[in-house]
Amino acid sequence: MNKLVFATNNQHKLSEVQAMVGKLFTISSLADMDIIEDIPETADTFEGNASQKSAYILHHYQLDCFADDSGLEVEALQNEPGVFSARYSGTRNMEANIDLLLSRLGNNMNRNARFRTVISLRIDGEHHLFEGTINGIITDERIGIEGFGYDPIFIPNGYDKTFAEMAPEEKNSISHRAIATAKLVSFLKDRNNI
Ligand code: IMP
Repeated sequence: MNKLVFATNNQHKLSEVQAMVGKLFTISSLADMDIIEDIPETADTFEGNASQKSAYILHHYQLDCFADDSGLEVEALQNEPGVFSARYSGTRNMEANIDLLLSRLGNNMNRNARFRTVISLRIDGEHHLFEGTINGIITDERIGIEGFGYDPIFIPNGYDKTFAEMAPEEKNSISHRAIATAKLVSFLKDRNNI
């Protein structure tokens, strides 16, 4: 059986990827491998952070693995919050992070934004990157109670509701994370002639 470590402690992300990969690979989390230290994430791009995390696991534990990094980029804010999405306001408090974003955007007519995920895979000495992007607009105020993070203020293009108004299955079928994960899974399947 092929094994891959997913450099995450987010059980939800782990189950989602495992479901998509099926029986082809067994995916373990950091906790499953008893890796408990904080993995450095100090780059200034999603690619940099995802690659830094996967390189850390490979070099310290010699394990084939993948890592992801995601965030929201707002065009009128020069792609902020970007890699600072989780702590834009200096705290992990999402109410404060959303308040800061909405106040910085103010009445700006350019509400264009996108969520991006980059996955870095290290397998058999090779390095591969997979990206998922979903474009949309930032609302003037929060709408909806589902999801997490910036979901209440993001309407994907082609929809008339925010991510936070969607059932989880609907969001998870179109999200940046789903797109990047599908690319990873299709790569792994092709590689194994599945
Ligand atoms: P992570 O790299 O997937 O942990 O994402 C970093 C941060 O980006 C999260 O803490 C959220 O603030 C934001 N983010 C990433 N993906 C989403 C999403 O699907 N909805 C809302 N916010 C997200």
